[in-house]
Amino acid sequence: MPDARLKQWRVRIDAALARALPDPSASPQRLHAAMQHAVLLGGKRMRPLLVYASGTLFGASETSLDGPSVAVELIHAYSLVHDDLPAMDDDALRRGQPTVHVAFDEATAVLAGDALQSLAFEIVADTPVADAVRVQLLRTLANASGVSGMCGGQALDIDATGTKPTLEQLERLHALKTGALIRAAVRMGALCGGASPDELQRLDRYASALGLAFQVRDDILDIEGDSATLGKTAGKDAAQDKATFPSLIGLDASRMRLDSLASTMFDALQPFGERASVLTALARMTIERSY
Ligand code: IPE
Ligand code: IPE
Ligand code: MG
Ligand code: MG
Ligand code: MG
Repeated sequence: MPDARLKQWRVRIDAALARALPDPSASPQRLHAAMQHAVLLGGKRMRPLLVYASGTLFGASETSLDGPSVAVELIHAYSLVHDDLPAMDDDALRRGQPTVHVAFDEATAVLAGDALQSLAFEIVADTPVADAVRVQLLRTLANASGVSGMCGGQALDIDATGTKPTLEQLERLHALKTGALIRAAVRMGALCGGASPDELQRLDRYASALGLAFQVRDDILDIEGDSATLGKTAGKDAAQDKATFPSLIGLDASRMRLDSLASTMFDALQPFGERASVLTALARMTIERSY
């Protein structure tokens, strides 16, 4: 069952993303084309899937989840466009395609990222839910994107490059740069479904572990994966002397950490029983993924 729902949501999110983006034949065409390139050419859609999975757990309609789901993927896509810029990770390959600044140019990549971010908030502002919920959605997404979330984590990532942080510092870095948006995806879904404060807290235990696990797996794949499968350049972290889980504690300990994060996730979901089967499946996919 989880597989069928995930498949159906993937089709739904791709259609919603295509509808949300500006017409590529309209002016400014180069910017619009860069936005399409950043968003529509692949990607696992993990964050939108989390919005649908956590929202439907509490009975939210798929229609009410489309906006938050599109928005979180737009923020994620923007973060990737900027992460790949020469000023940051300087990557030429993303989702099996040339990165946006390579396919277009740097100025267009900066602007495409900026425009995707603005569009994300516009879409949440138009989401058909009660006003009070919409404000919570906006706050959740803004908080996860800014200094207390992704941008803050990216800044810590740059600071930590070439250094050997403590494990605690590395976990904070990962929790911010990757975990925050994943937590926001789960929370936005649950908010649309009217989850109680207790339920939100329990789901946040799941989402925090998932967010950290997601980046630990990403760090492992940078070593074990190949560029063709990953759709992005393998081996970049070591080449750039990035602070990662394997570089700090080794591959075996990183894998063990993934196992313990999996237990935390399953434990947090346990009270929801069978209803949380899609969230359980997404946890498994995250720790076992090969791209
Ligand atoms: C890559 O994210 C960047 C990280 C936060 C680790 P994903 O692995 O979700 O990338 P896509 O969306 O599938 O391309
Ligand atoms: C990126 O982390 C996290 C973001 C906020 C984009 P990485 O730099 O490890 O992501 P990849 O490996 O380039 O996808
Ligand atoms: Mg990076
Ligand atoms: Mg990168
Ligand atoms: Mg990486």
